[in-house]
Amino acid sequence: EGIEQEVSTGSLPGWDRVEDLVGAAHARYRDVDDGVVADYIPVLATVDPGLYGVCVAESGGAVHGAGDTEVEFSVQSISKAFVYALVCEEFGHQDVLERVGVNNTGLPFNSVIAVELNDGHPMNPMVNAGALATTALMPGASFGEQWENVRGGLSAFAGRQLELDDEVYRSESATNMRNKAIARLLQSYGRIEVDPLEVVDVYTRQCALRVSAHDLAVMGATLADGGVNPVTGERVVSGQVCRDTLAVLAATGMYERSGEWLFEIGLPAKSGVAGGIVAVAPGKGAIGTFSPPLDPAGNSVRGQRATAYLSRTLGLNVF
Ligand code: DON
Repeated sequence: EGIEQEVSTGSLPGWDRVEDLVGAAHARYRDVDDGVVADYIPVLATVDPGLYGVCVAESGGAVHGAGDTEVEFSVQSISKAFVYALVCEEFGHQDVLERVGVNNTGLPFNSVIAVELNDGHPMNPMVNAGALATTALMPGASFGEQWENVRGGLSAFAGRQLELDDEVYRSESATNMRNKAIARLLQSYGRIEVDPLEVVDVYTRQCALRVSAHDLAVMGATLADGGVNPVTGERVVSGQVCRDTLAVLAATGMYERSGEWLFEIGLPAKSGVAGGIVAVAPGKGAIGTFSPPLDPAGNSVRGQRATAYLSRTLGLNVF
């Protein structure tokens, strides 16, 4: 409580105590037991709900973690942010704006109605419709090559080679009729020009890449750092692409809860249904969290609370 009061007076951002604050963020919310583990992808329901990791990567490259920061889980929707960045790098600001959009739908991430209400426009790259339209634009001469470029690109953000979780991929492939329907619907509106089921396959693989909270922090810090991975020193995307991606995350990254998130926490962020969240503090670094139980919008409960605590105590709110 002392730390919070001290910082909420506005005077003392806690970067000199970041290691302690990461530990405190973990300890404070470890016993929270709200939320429900996702089960619409059957294999996700088998995860240990007690797993919990909190990690901060600074834009200078230092990484601080507490709890289960090296446990791997599927990246799920968090991949949408990084695939979007890769596609922006290839196509540029205007083209992606027109084709995919940047506005919040106010509806759940897998909404079909959102597509119908907007004349077939996918609306934004963080909902499934827009993510499918984005993945369809990934560079590559074949679907196999597109997938390798997705994997290679996300690996460059993480600074290590990421692997496919075959069990998650197969579990989701067997149950993702809704994403197949959304892709067909986009095709019917001329928004996907290649085989929609192949696009769903690349997207399903992208969502099944294995990451840790540590990876998420480094991936986010690469966006915070203008596109240069602060650990490997590799330039992954341009500074302009980072600005575009972070603006979209601020508006849409936490789905229909994005406004509330920005109001309370003040950082562009992206969540995934396996329980990951990445939040980016431009120029400063990023927070990666992992805890499987989710709120009704599909955002990790402990992850949101740990991120809120760190945003407040480290003085990260961009407003
Ligand atoms: O397409 C899906 O439904 C999943 N592969 C990803 C959804 C997701 O992570 C939503 N996030 N909170």
